[in-house]
Amino acid sequence: MKIECADVFYRYDVPGDGWALRDISFSLEQGEKVAVIGHAGSGKTTLIQLLDALILPEKGDIRYDGQSLLALSKTKKLFSIRRRIGVLFQFPEQQFFHETAYEELTFALRNFFDLSAEEIERRARDAAERFQLDVDMLAQISPFHLSSGEKRKLALASAIISSPEVLIFDEPTAGMDASGRKELIRIISGLQDVTMVLVTHNLEDFLGIVDRCIVLSEGRMAADIGRGRLVDRLGDLEAMGVVPPLVLSVQDWLAKAGIRTGETLFDMKQLVGHLKSGG
Ligand SMILES: Nc1ncnc2c1ncn2[C@@H]1O[C@H](COP(=O)(O)OP(=O)(O)OP(=O)(O)O)[C@@H](O)[C@H]1O
Ligand SMILES: [Mg+2]
Repeated sequence: MKIECADVFYRYDVPGDGWALRDISFSLEQGEKVAVIGHAGSGKTTLIQLLDALILPEKGDIRYDGQSLLALSKTKKLFSIRRRIGVLFQFPEQQFFHETAYEELTFALRNFFDLSAEEIERRARDAAERFQLDVDMLAQISPFHLSSGEKRKLALASAIISSPEVLIFDEPTAGMDASGRKELIRIISGLQDVTMVLVTHNLEDFLGIVDRCIVLSEGRMAADIGRGRLVDRLGDLEAMGVVPPLVLSVQDWLAKAGIRTGETLFDMKQLVGHLKSGG
């Protein structure tokens, strides 16, 4: 699904507060993957909530495959878009509302799709196992009683279970253990056709996956940088409060010492291999 954000402005209903986001415009083609980065309070979660249609722009509009969210909201048809999107909130417990973790996991399948009980069970088992969650345990426990890492895994499994066309994740690796992180990145890497917006404080995690980085600063779009150009913009990233991925910093240092890798490499092992082979 294609996503267009056109001249979007948003402000919270707090007296005296200005725009939380202003003049945000970008467009994502189907299958394109973008990281949204920026310092705390720069507006990342606000952007995510707008893209999920949890809040609506005060000015401007967001279009999914050309369909206006404002128009869909007026005609009460947001559901037709929401069923095609998988969402992860920054604080997963804010998206839970069922008695058991199993009901939470299968919510989208049960409500948006016409599937047999066996098919729902099969998909639930598959999605849970991908994140090392025991589906029988999920049926016994409240989602609120899971550990914070398990809550995130449950929310991620719930987001991917219906094979959505769009994934919108707010800090997907925050608080995750190494195996959960690795599995998430493996799953995302396999979803070529899925359009993705990933908010992260850790660009390094997703460097191998994203096509572009949008940098937010004080509610504005400070930069929209293609992956291949990131290494030239490390100073700008730092100035905007973003810690540059180490693999890019090393290539910058090497370049300054007269050692060039040719095209930018996004993985440390690849970089070491390249240097070992004599470039
Ligand atoms: N529910 C709310 N009510 C009022 N103001 C809010 C609300 N949520 C966010 N804001 C304000 O909007 C601005 C952007 O907040 P947002 O949560 O989008 O930032 P963020 O980039 O996601 O930050 P973080 O990295 O800490 O998650 C901040 O100034 C924040 O105080
Ligand atoms: Mg946030």
